[in-house]
Amino acid sequence: MRKRLLAALTCSMMVLVTGCGNDDMTVLTPNGPALIKDDGSGSSNSVSTKATQKTTTTTKTDTKKSSGSSDLVHVGFAQVGSESDWRLAQTDSMKSTFTEGNGYQFDFVDCNNDQQKQVETIQKFIDDKVDYIVLDPIVEDGYDDVLKKAQDAGIPVIVVDRNISASDSLYTCWVGSNFVKEGEDAAKWLKEYLASEGRDSESLNIVTISGTTGASAQLGRSEGFNNNMAGNWTLLDEQSGDFNEDGGRAVMTAFLAQYDDIDVVVCQNDNEAYGAIDAIQNAGKSCGPNGDMIMISFDATKGGFERMVAGEINVDVECNPLEGPLVSELIQKLEKGETVDKIQYVEEGVYPADTAADIIDSRAY
Ligand code: AHR
Repeated sequence: MRKRLLAALTCSMMVLVTGCGNDDMTVLTPNGPALIKDDGSGSSNSVSTKATQKTTTTTKTDTKKSSGSSDLVHVGFAQVGSESDWRLAQTDSMKSTFTEGNGYQFDFVDCNNDQQKQVETIQKFIDDKVDYIVLDPIVEDGYDDVLKKAQDAGIPVIVVDRNISASDSLYTCWVGSNFVKEGEDAAKWLKEYLASEGRDSESLNIVTISGTTGASAQLGRSEGFNNNMAGNWTLLDEQSGDFNEDGGRAVMTAFLAQYDDIDVVVCQNDNEAYGAIDAIQNAGKSCGPNGDMIMISFDATKGGFERMVAGEINVDVECNPLEGPLVSELIQKLEKGETVDKIQYVEEGVYPADTAADIIDSRAY
Protein backbone atom coordinates (compact mmCIF):
# COMPACT_ATOMS: atom_id res chain seq x y z
CA MET A 1 0.00 0.00 0.00
CA ARG A 2 1.39 3.32 -0.96
CA LYS A 3 2.03 5.69 1.83
CA ARG A 4 0.78 9.13 0.97
CA LEU A 5 1.96 12.03 3.02
CA LEU A 6 0.53 15.42 3.77
CA ALA A 7 -1.79 17.31 1.54
CA ALA A 8 -0.56 20.44 -0.30
CA LEU A 9 2.04 19.83 -2.76
CA THR A 10 4.76 20.85 -4.96
CA CYS A 11 4.39 24.55 -4.36
CA SER A 12 5.11 23.80 -0.73
CA MET A 13 7.85 21.29 -1.47
CA MET A 14 10.75 21.42 0.91
CA VAL A 15 13.93 22.30 -0.94
CA LEU A 16 17.24 21.80 0.81
CA VAL A 17 20.83 22.26 -0.23
CA THR A 18 22.69 19.01 0.17
CA GLY A 19 25.84 18.12 1.97
CA CYS A 20 28.55 20.56 2.78
CA GLY A 21 27.73 23.15 0.19
CA ASN A 22 29.66 21.33 -2.57
CA ASP A 23 28.53 20.18 -6.01
CA ASP A 24 28.26 16.44 -5.52
CA MET A 25 26.09 14.72 -8.06
CA THR A 26 24.42 11.39 -8.48
CA VAL A 27 25.01 9.70 -11.83
CA LEU A 28 23.54 6.58 -13.36
CA THR A 29 26.15 3.97 -14.12
CA PRO A 30 25.57 0.61 -15.78
CA ASN A 31 25.48 -0.77 -12.23
CA GLY A 32 22.98 1.72 -10.87
CA PRO A 33 23.11 5.22 -9.40
CA ALA A 34 26.42 6.42 -7.97
CA LEU A 35 27.43 9.58 -6.18
CA ILE A 36 30.15 11.70 -7.80
CA LYS A 37 31.94 13.69 -5.12
CA ASP A 38 33.00 17.18 -6.10
CA ASP A 39 36.78 17.36 -5.68
CA GLY A 40 36.78 21.10 -6.04
CA SER A 41 38.82 20.90 -9.24
CA GLY A 42 35.95 22.20 -11.29
CA SER A 43 36.72 19.63 -13.97
CA SER A 44 34.01 17.21 -15.03
CA ASN A 45 31.38 18.75 -12.79
CA SER A 46 31.99 22.24 -13.99
CA VAL A 47 30.05 23.26 -17.10
CA SER A 48 28.18 26.33 -18.12
CA THR A 49 24.60 25.08 -17.90
CA LYS A 50 22.22 23.96 -15.24
CA ALA A 51 24.99 21.52 -14.34
CA THR A 52 26.61 24.26 -12.34
CA GLN A 53 23.55 24.61 -10.17
CA LYS A 54 23.88 23.42 -6.63
CA THR A 55 22.41 20.02 -6.15
CA THR A 56 19.34 20.49 -4.07
CA THR A 57 17.04 17.94 -2.58
CA THR A 58 13.32 17.78 -2.85
CA THR A 59 10.75 16.04 -0.76
CA LYS A 60 7.32 15.17 -2.05
CA THR A 61 4.82 16.46 0.48
CA ASP A 62 1.49 16.01 -1.13
CA THR A 63 -0.86 14.17 -2.12
CA LYS A 64 -4.00 13.01 -3.77
CA LYS A 65 -5.08 9.61 -4.96
CA SER A 66 -4.74 8.68 -8.59
CA SER A 67 -7.95 8.16 -10.51
CA GLY A 68 -6.40 4.84 -11.36
CA SER A 69 -6.93 1.84 -9.24
CA SER A 70 -5.40 -0.05 -6.39
CA ASP A 71 -1.92 0.15 -5.09
CA LEU A 72 -0.22 0.77 -8.41
CA VAL A 73 1.68 4.04 -8.77
CA HIS A 74 0.24 5.75 -11.83
CA VAL A 75 2.98 7.29 -14.02
CA GLY A 76 2.43 9.18 -17.27
CA PHE A 77 5.41 9.54 -19.60
CA ALA A 78 5.33 12.21 -22.32
CA GLN A 79 8.06 10.91 -24.63
CA VAL A 80 9.70 13.07 -27.33
CA GLY A 81 9.09 10.67 -30.22
CA SER A 82 10.86 7.77 -31.92
CA GLU A 83 13.32 9.63 -34.12
CA SER A 84 16.47 7.69 -33.23
CA ASP A 85 17.89 4.41 -31.99
CA TRP A 86 18.81 6.23 -28.78
CA ARG A 87 15.18 7.25 -28.31
CA LEU A 88 13.96 3.67 -28.80
CA ALA A 89 16.48 2.48 -26.20
CA GLN A 90 15.23 5.09 -23.74
CA THR A 91 11.62 4.06 -24.37
CA ASP A 92 12.57 0.42 -23.75
CA SER A 93 14.31 1.39 -20.51
CA MET A 94 11.18 3.16 -19.29
CA LYS A 95 8.73 0.49 -20.43
CA SER A 96 10.72 -2.36 -18.96
CA THR A 97 10.98 -0.50 -15.64
CA PHE A 98 7.45 0.83 -15.20
CA THR A 99 5.65 -2.50 -15.32
CA GLU A 100 2.71 -3.71 -13.27
CA GLY A 101 5.04 -6.30 -11.80
CA ASN A 102 7.15 -3.44 -10.47
CA GLY A 103 4.07 -1.75 -9.03
CA TYR A 104 3.24 0.75 -11.76
CA GLN A 105 0.38 1.72 -14.01
CA PHE A 106 2.26 3.27 -16.97
CA ASP A 107 0.75 5.56 -19.58
CA PHE A 108 3.19 6.08 -22.44
CA VAL A 109 2.61 8.69 -25.14
CA ASP A 110 4.93 9.14 -28.15
CA CYS A 111 4.58 12.86 -28.90
CA ASN A 112 6.09 12.54 -32.38
CA ASN A 113 8.37 15.55 -31.91
CA ASP A 114 5.30 17.79 -31.73
CA GLN A 115 5.51 20.14 -28.75
CA GLN A 116 1.82 21.02 -28.86
CA LYS A 117 1.00 17.33 -28.61
CA GLN A 118 3.41 17.03 -25.70
CA VAL A 119 1.80 19.92 -23.81
CA GLU A 120 -1.65 18.40 -24.48
CA THR A 121 -0.37 15.04 -23.25
CA ILE A 122 0.77 16.58 -19.97
CA GLN A 123 -2.64 18.27 -19.63
CA LYS A 124 -4.31 14.89 -20.18
CA PHE A 125 -2.14 13.31 -17.49
CA ILE A 126 -3.23 16.11 -15.15
CA ASP A 127 -6.89 15.52 -16.05
CA ASP A 128 -6.39 11.79 -15.45
CA LYS A 129 -4.92 12.58 -12.02
CA VAL A 130 -1.82 10.45 -12.52
CA ASP A 131 0.48 10.22 -9.51
CA TYR A 132 3.63 11.33 -11.37
CA ILE A 133 4.35 12.93 -14.71
CA VAL A 134 7.62 12.11 -16.45
CA LEU A 135 8.47 14.62 -19.17
CA ASP A 136 11.21 14.37 -21.79
CA PRO A 137 10.93 17.87 -23.27
CA ILE A 138 11.23 18.16 -27.05
CA VAL A 139 12.63 21.69 -26.78
CA GLU A 140 13.66 23.84 -23.82
CA ASP A 141 11.01 26.57 -23.91
CA GLY A 142 7.24 26.54 -23.63
CA TYR A 143 6.35 24.29 -20.70
CA ASP A 144 5.87 26.88 -17.94
CA ASP A 145 2.08 27.11 -18.09
CA VAL A 146 1.36 23.41 -18.17
CA LEU A 147 3.90 22.71 -15.43
CA LYS A 148 2.19 25.32 -13.27
CA LYS A 149 -1.06 23.46 -13.84
CA ALA A 150 0.56 20.19 -12.78
CA GLN A 151 1.91 21.90 -9.70
CA ASP A 152 -1.50 23.37 -8.86
CA ALA A 153 -2.98 19.88 -9.24
CA GLY A 154 -0.38 18.48 -6.84
CA ILE A 155 1.30 16.20 -9.36
CA PRO A 156 5.09 15.92 -9.16
CA VAL A 157 6.88 16.23 -12.49
CA ILE A 158 10.19 14.49 -13.17
CA VAL A 159 12.03 15.88 -16.20
CA VAL A 160 14.29 13.41 -18.00
CA ASP A 161 17.03 13.51 -20.65
CA ARG A 162 16.69 17.07 -22.02
CA ASN A 163 16.45 20.28 -20.01
CA ILE A 164 13.73 22.92 -19.87
CA SER A 165 14.01 26.66 -19.38
CA ALA A 166 11.10 26.85 -16.90
CA SER A 167 11.84 27.67 -13.26
CA ASP A 168 13.05 24.58 -11.41
CA SER A 169 10.42 25.32 -8.78
CA LEU A 170 7.92 23.95 -11.32
CA TYR A 171 9.32 20.42 -11.37
CA THR A 172 10.46 18.02 -8.70
CA CYS A 173 13.78 16.93 -10.20
CA TRP A 174 15.68 16.34 -13.41
CA VAL A 175 17.64 13.30 -14.61
CA GLY A 176 19.63 13.37 -17.82
CA SER A 177 22.71 14.10 -19.85
CA ASN A 178 25.28 16.87 -19.65
CA PHE A 179 24.99 18.00 -23.25
CA VAL A 180 27.46 20.89 -22.98
CA LYS A 181 30.07 18.50 -21.63
CA GLU A 182 29.35 16.09 -24.49
CA GLY A 183 30.11 18.91 -26.99
CA GLU A 184 33.24 19.88 -25.05
CA ASP A 185 34.36 16.25 -25.04
CA ALA A 186 33.98 16.06 -28.83
CA ALA A 187 36.15 19.17 -29.34
CA LYS A 188 38.71 17.88 -26.83
CA TRP A 189 38.89 14.53 -28.61
CA LEU A 190 39.39 16.25 -31.99
CA LYS A 191 42.26 18.37 -30.65
CA GLU A 192 43.98 15.31 -29.17
CA TYR A 193 43.38 13.23 -32.30
CA LEU A 194 44.83 15.90 -34.60
CA ALA A 195 47.85 16.27 -32.33
CA SER A 196 48.41 12.51 -32.37
CA GLU A 197 48.31 12.60 -36.18
CA GLY A 198 50.65 15.59 -36.39
CA ARG A 199 47.85 17.66 -37.92
CA ASP A 200 47.23 20.16 -35.14
CA SER A 201 48.53 23.14 -37.08
CA GLU A 202 46.42 22.31 -40.16
CA SER A 203 43.53 24.63 -41.05
CA LEU A 204 40.34 22.58 -40.85
CA ASN A 205 36.87 23.14 -42.29
CA ILE A 206 34.03 21.74 -40.19
CA VAL A 207 30.33 21.23 -40.87
CA THR A 208 27.84 20.33 -38.16
CA ILE A 209 24.57 18.46 -38.65
CA SER A 210 22.79 19.55 -35.52
CA GLY A 211 19.82 18.01 -33.74
CA THR A 212 16.30 19.32 -33.32
CA THR A 213 16.60 23.10 -33.09
CA GLY A 214 15.90 24.36 -29.59
CA ALA A 215 16.31 20.94 -27.93
CA SER A 216 18.81 21.08 -25.10
CA ALA A 217 20.68 18.16 -26.72
CA GLN A 218 21.24 20.42 -29.74
CA LEU A 219 21.89 23.63 -27.81
CA GLY A 220 24.30 22.02 -25.38
CA ARG A 221 26.31 20.04 -27.93
CA SER A 222 26.63 23.08 -30.21
CA GLU A 223 27.66 25.31 -27.31
CA GLY A 224 30.17 22.82 -25.94
CA PHE A 225 31.80 22.15 -29.31
CA ASN A 226 31.68 25.61 -30.87
CA ASN A 227 33.06 27.34 -27.78
CA ASN A 228 36.04 25.00 -27.73
CA MET A 229 37.13 25.10 -31.36
CA ALA A 230 40.83 25.64 -32.00
CA GLY A 231 41.84 28.91 -33.64
CA ASN A 232 42.67 27.21 -36.94
CA TRP A 233 39.27 25.49 -37.27
CA THR A 234 36.49 27.07 -39.31
CA LEU A 235 32.84 26.14 -38.85
CA LEU A 236 31.62 26.37 -42.45
CA ASP A 237 27.99 25.63 -41.65
CA GLU A 238 25.60 24.16 -39.09
CA GLN A 239 22.15 22.90 -40.16
CA SER A 240 19.57 20.75 -38.39
CA GLY A 241 19.07 17.13 -39.36
CA ASP A 242 16.37 16.81 -36.67
CA PHE A 243 18.14 13.87 -35.00
CA ASN A 244 17.10 11.42 -37.72
CA GLU A 245 18.73 9.53 -40.58
CA ASP A 246 16.84 11.20 -43.44
CA GLY A 247 17.71 14.59 -41.98
CA GLY A 248 21.40 13.66 -41.79
CA ARG A 249 21.38 12.46 -45.39
CA ALA A 250 19.62 15.58 -46.71
CA VAL A 251 21.81 18.06 -44.84
CA MET A 252 25.05 16.27 -45.79
CA THR A 253 23.99 16.08 -49.44
CA ALA A 254 23.44 19.85 -49.40
CA PHE A 255 26.77 20.47 -47.63
CA LEU A 256 28.64 18.40 -50.22
CA ALA A 257 27.00 20.34 -53.03
CA GLN A 258 27.96 23.64 -51.43
CA TYR A 259 31.45 22.97 -50.01
CA ASP A 260 34.22 21.01 -51.71
CA ASP A 261 36.73 21.24 -48.86
CA ILE A 262 35.10 19.65 -45.80
CA ASP A 263 37.59 18.11 -43.35
CA VAL A 264 35.37 17.27 -40.38
CA VAL A 265 31.68 16.35 -40.09
CA VAL A 266 30.03 16.61 -36.67
CA CYS A 267 26.71 14.75 -36.47
CA GLN A 268 24.81 15.37 -33.26
CA ASN A 269 23.51 11.80 -33.13
CA ASP A 270 24.22 8.39 -34.63
CA ASN A 271 21.18 8.31 -36.89
CA GLU A 272 22.18 11.58 -38.50
CA ALA A 273 25.66 10.08 -38.98
CA TYR A 274 24.22 7.05 -40.81
CA GLY A 275 22.46 9.35 -43.27
CA ALA A 276 25.52 11.57 -43.64
CA ILE A 277 27.76 8.55 -44.32
CA ASP A 278 25.36 7.47 -47.09
CA ALA A 279 25.51 10.92 -48.64
CA ILE A 280 29.32 11.00 -48.45
CA GLN A 281 29.65 7.57 -50.03
CA ASN A 282 27.07 8.43 -52.72
CA ALA A 283 29.24 11.41 -53.59
CA GLY A 284 32.22 9.08 -54.10
CA LYS A 285 33.94 10.21 -50.91
CA SER A 286 34.72 8.55 -47.61
CA CYS A 287 34.85 9.27 -43.90
CA GLY A 288 36.33 7.64 -40.82
CA PRO A 289 39.89 7.02 -39.61
CA ASN A 290 41.19 6.28 -43.12
CA GLY A 291 38.69 8.43 -45.01
CA ASP A 292 38.62 11.84 -46.65
CA MET A 293 36.76 13.38 -43.70
CA ILE A 294 36.79 12.95 -39.94
CA MET A 295 33.35 11.84 -38.70
CA ILE A 296 32.30 12.70 -35.13
CA SER A 297 29.04 11.36 -33.74
CA PHE A 298 27.06 11.38 -30.49
CA ASP A 299 25.04 8.69 -28.64
CA ALA A 300 27.40 5.67 -28.90
CA THR A 301 24.60 3.24 -29.61
CA LYS A 302 25.43 -0.26 -30.78
CA GLY A 303 24.84 0.90 -34.36
CA GLY A 304 27.35 3.70 -33.83
CA PHE A 305 29.88 1.15 -32.59
CA GLU A 306 29.24 -0.99 -35.68
CA ARG A 307 30.00 2.03 -37.87
CA MET A 308 33.24 2.62 -35.93
CA VAL A 309 34.26 -1.03 -36.40
CA ALA A 310 33.44 -0.61 -40.11
CA GLY A 311 35.81 2.38 -40.24
CA GLU A 312 33.14 5.03 -40.97
CA ILE A 313 33.03 6.99 -37.68
CA ASN A 314 36.13 8.26 -35.84
CA VAL A 315 34.64 8.81 -32.41
CA ASP A 316 31.27 8.46 -30.67
CA VAL A 317 30.48 10.59 -27.62
CA GLU A 318 28.09 8.72 -25.38
CA CYS A 319 24.60 9.82 -24.38
CA ASN A 320 23.13 7.31 -21.93
CA PRO A 321 19.45 6.43 -22.47
CA LEU A 322 19.08 3.92 -19.63
CA GLU A 323 17.17 6.24 -17.35
CA GLY A 324 14.17 4.08 -16.36
CA PRO A 325 15.68 2.50 -13.21
CA LEU A 326 16.88 5.83 -11.84
CA VAL A 327 13.53 7.52 -12.45
CA SER A 328 11.81 4.61 -10.69
CA GLU A 329 14.21 4.90 -7.78
CA LEU A 330 13.36 8.60 -7.48
CA ILE A 331 9.65 7.87 -7.48
CA GLN A 332 10.06 5.20 -4.83
CA LYS A 333 11.93 7.65 -2.64
CA LEU A 334 9.27 10.31 -3.14
CA GLU A 335 6.60 7.75 -2.28
CA LYS A 336 8.33 7.18 1.03
CA GLY A 337 8.64 10.90 1.68
CA GLU A 338 12.40 10.83 1.25
CA THR A 339 14.44 13.58 -0.32
CA VAL A 340 15.88 13.32 -3.82
CA ASP A 341 18.59 15.28 -5.58
CA LYS A 342 17.20 18.05 -7.71
CA ILE A 343 19.68 17.35 -10.52
CA GLN A 344 21.13 14.00 -11.45
CA TYR A 345 23.42 13.18 -14.36
CA VAL A 346 23.74 9.86 -16.11
CA GLU A 347 27.30 8.65 -16.59
CA GLU A 348 28.72 9.01 -20.10
CA GLY A 349 32.00 8.29 -21.88
CA VAL A 350 33.90 9.01 -25.11
CA TYR A 351 34.66 6.11 -27.46
CA PRO A 352 37.28 6.51 -30.21
CA ALA A 353 37.09 4.06 -33.13
CA ASP A 354 40.18 2.14 -32.07
CA THR A 355 38.40 1.04 -28.87
CA ALA A 356 35.16 -0.02 -30.59
CA ALA A 357 35.90 -3.63 -31.49
CA ASP A 358 36.81 -4.48 -27.91
CA ILE A 359 33.79 -2.77 -26.39
CA ILE A 360 30.97 -3.39 -28.85
CA ASP A 361 29.77 -6.69 -27.35
CA SER A 362 29.35 -5.14 -23.92
CA ARG A 363 27.13 -2.31 -25.12
CA ALA A 364 23.68 -2.44 -23.53
CA TYR A 365 21.93 -0.35 -26.21
O1 AHR B 1 17.97 13.99 -26.15
C1 AHR B 1 18.84 12.98 -26.51
C2 AHR B 1 19.03 12.98 -28.00
O2 AHR B 1 17.77 12.81 -28.61
C3 AHR B 1 19.89 11.87 -28.55
O3 AHR B 1 21.18 12.24 -28.84
C4 AHR B 1 19.22 11.60 -29.83
O4 AHR B 1 19.61 10.42 -30.48
C5 AHR B 1 17.81 11.71 -29.45
O5 AHR B 1 16.93 11.68 -30.47
